[in-house]
Amino acid sequence: MGTEPTNDSKLFDDLPDGAITLLQLSDSHIYADQDRCLVGINTQDSLDQVIALARQQLSTPDLLLATGDLVHDASAAGYQRIAERLSAFGCPVYCLPGNHDVPKVMQEHLNRPPLYCLPSLQRGNWSIIFLDSTIPGKPGGHLDDAQLELLSETLNRHPKHHTLITMHHHPVPVGSAWMDTMALVNPEPLFHLLEQHSQVRAVLFGHIHQEFDTKHRGIRLIGTPSTCIQFIAGQDKFGIDSKPPGYRAMVLLESGEIRTEVRLLQALPLGLDLSSGGY
Ligand SMILES: [Fe+2]
Repeated sequence: MGTEPTNDSKLFDDLPDGAITLLQLSDSHIYADQDRCLVGINTQDSLDQVIALARQQLSTPDLLLATGDLVHDASAAGYQRIAERLSAFGCPVYCLPGNHDVPKVMQEHLNRPPLYCLPSLQRGNWSIIFLDSTIPGKPGGHLDDAQLELLSETLNRHPKHHTLITMHHHPVPVGSAWMDTMALVNPEPLFHLLEQHSQVRAVLFGHIHQEFDTKHRGIRLIGTPSTCIQFIAGQDKFGIDSKPPGYRAMVLLESGEIRTEVRLLQALPLGLDLSSGGY
């Protein structure tokens, strides 16, 4: 697998004062067994290659976001290896659960400094809110009353902070029927709240294993590829895309502007089964 695209990104060059740099890693689906593969690829190797690429671009971001499904089997051994890998960035790492996570087990391993499972953080004039959109034992997403209350309360408490909202699941359909059966089932109360708070700059998520950036009801929605397999966008049936693993880099500017780009490895992981009918 290639990891050496020349670092021609200008994203982190000449940043103005107050800019916050962050990297998002999502859906690495590693296993307790380091040799185990998903759709033909070793997900641990793939994650390690993506981390190497990310660190070439920016070795120490201000913060790292891990947006769920980092461990496929919710195993302690998997979480432990994730904790080691993410701690190496030397910055705070904020983790939220995906449908493959068991939040209690995840928190045992990913909620000790420099790793945190928190409801929100405020840094500079930005607020980042971390929502748990999981439904135990189900692949789809839901924001329960407690999460909606947390969101509402945090938005009300920090009305002057530009706000980035993060969760695992996609809050609107992305145009793939099979994937959209696993979207957030109750987007209405979410968007209702967001429309009432003009400080919200974007909602950021994983889960869809593809790049996504659109606006819905005036809110920017940003989805991020996986560090392992990608799904074919805009196709109703499950399909593995021929795009390599990757991550998202982002800058939050004091003005409220978000600059962001996805960076992918140069080559497909060894063994990827492009004809796979499911995972
Ligand atoms: Fe997921």
